Amino acid sequence: MTIGIIGAMNEEIEALLSSMIDITKEVKAEIEYYRGVINGHNVVVCKSGVGKVNASICTQILIDRFQASKVLFTGVAGAVDPTLNIGDIVISVDCMQHDMDATALGFKEGEIPFMDRFIFKADDALITLASKVSDEEVNNQAIIKGRILSGDQFVANREKVKQLFEKFEGSCTEMEGAAVAQVCSMNNVPFVIIRSISDKADGSANSNFLEFVKYAADNSYKIIVGMLERMS
Ligand code: ADE
Repeated sequence: MTIGIIGAMNEEIEALLSSMIDITKEVKAEIEYYRGVINGHNVVVCKSGVGKVNASICTQILIDRFQASKVLFTGVAGAVDPTLNIGDIVISVDCMQHDMDATALGFKEGEIPFMDRFIFKADDALITLASKVSDEEVNNQAIIKGRILSGDQFVANREKVKQLFEKFEGSCTEMEGAAVAQVCSMNNVPFVIIRSISDKADGSANSNFLEFVKYAADNSYKIIVGMLERMS
């Protein structure tokens, strides 16, 4: 069994790469895939690049070429739930694209035209495991299970965040999770997205992101490694 682990940026995968042994690298569609072993599990760690298109390509290749039978995503996000603070953890219950908009054709906001679903549910067993590990390994930070909203936008606007919270009941916003979730769902592969908050998606989001990306990415990394330790 191979577990696929995706991060969008270097900060989100570098700690994982340094925890891996027996590493071999393969490049496909300009994406670097690192096969190796972490805590006795065969894994493929990859950096998707930013945005839903990159994340979709990366995930489909992970499934087709590397036979990933589970997909974990590790990374950072902007808070949408106003109770969340820097470093807090969101474990995906489900994911959707907040920027999918065919309302002019009569579809709901977020609805993907002519598809039977647009909210993609994460795997229950992976959610439970991530939650248990977070409770054990992450101190002094809130840990919630919630909806992850993805869009090809770095959100840095208080009004937009408020809308995202009210319209979609999201917990956090980022740029890849719903794409990974949709590809996994369409291939029947279980997934979970783990995000740690790097900013509040408001007017300070750009400076907070730069300051806290490493700290938040490390929180998410700890959960992924803890999950691999406890997986049978
Ligand atoms: N990733 C981290 N912070 C984000 C934000 N504010 N918007 C989109 N993606 C993010």
